[in-house]
Amino acid sequence: MKLTVNGVTHDVDVEEDMPMLWVLRDVLGITGPKYGCGIAQCGACTVHMDGIAVRSCQLAAGDVEGEITTIEGLGSPAVRHAVQEAWIDLQVAQCGYCQSGQIMQAASFLELNPTPTDDQIDAAMSGNLCRCGTYPRIREAVKSAAIKLKAV
Ligand code: FES
Ligand code: FES
Repeated sequence: MKLTVNGVTHDVDVEEDMPMLWVLRDVLGITGPKYGCGIAQCGACTVHMDGIAVRSCQLAAGDVEGEITTIEGLGSPAVRHAVQEAWIDLQVAQCGYCQSGQIMQAASFLELNPTPTDDQIDAAMSGNLCRCGTYPRIREAVKSAAIKLKAV
């Protein structure tokens, strides 16, 4: 099947029910999305499908409709997405394992709600778990990214 990931269309020879997380990591070598739980409970595997945050561990390759974007395609070291900049400014990451999923969730959320309240941020990010407890910095970074996005 053909899958477009980060602006590149790939021909991949995989079973239709193969989770996209494994297509990305094992077939395409795109390792930003992480395996945490495999059952849509932690958010470590979050990517975008046409801009909407989805859990790639529960998205079958055959069910992909539209373009997939991973953390590798959200921005680049030269041209970072506002959420990535905010994450660096506030030094959000601790071990870092959950953070690509956190950033992808935040970026999708801010597209839908560019002026969120603290409660809305907490609700939107509540499905993305962080064993290191970086939640206060995540909330501040989402607020900072919202301001950066408004300035664009
Ligand atoms: S690995 Fe997909 S939500 Fe946990
Ligand atoms: S930074 Fe370690 S799990 Fe979130």
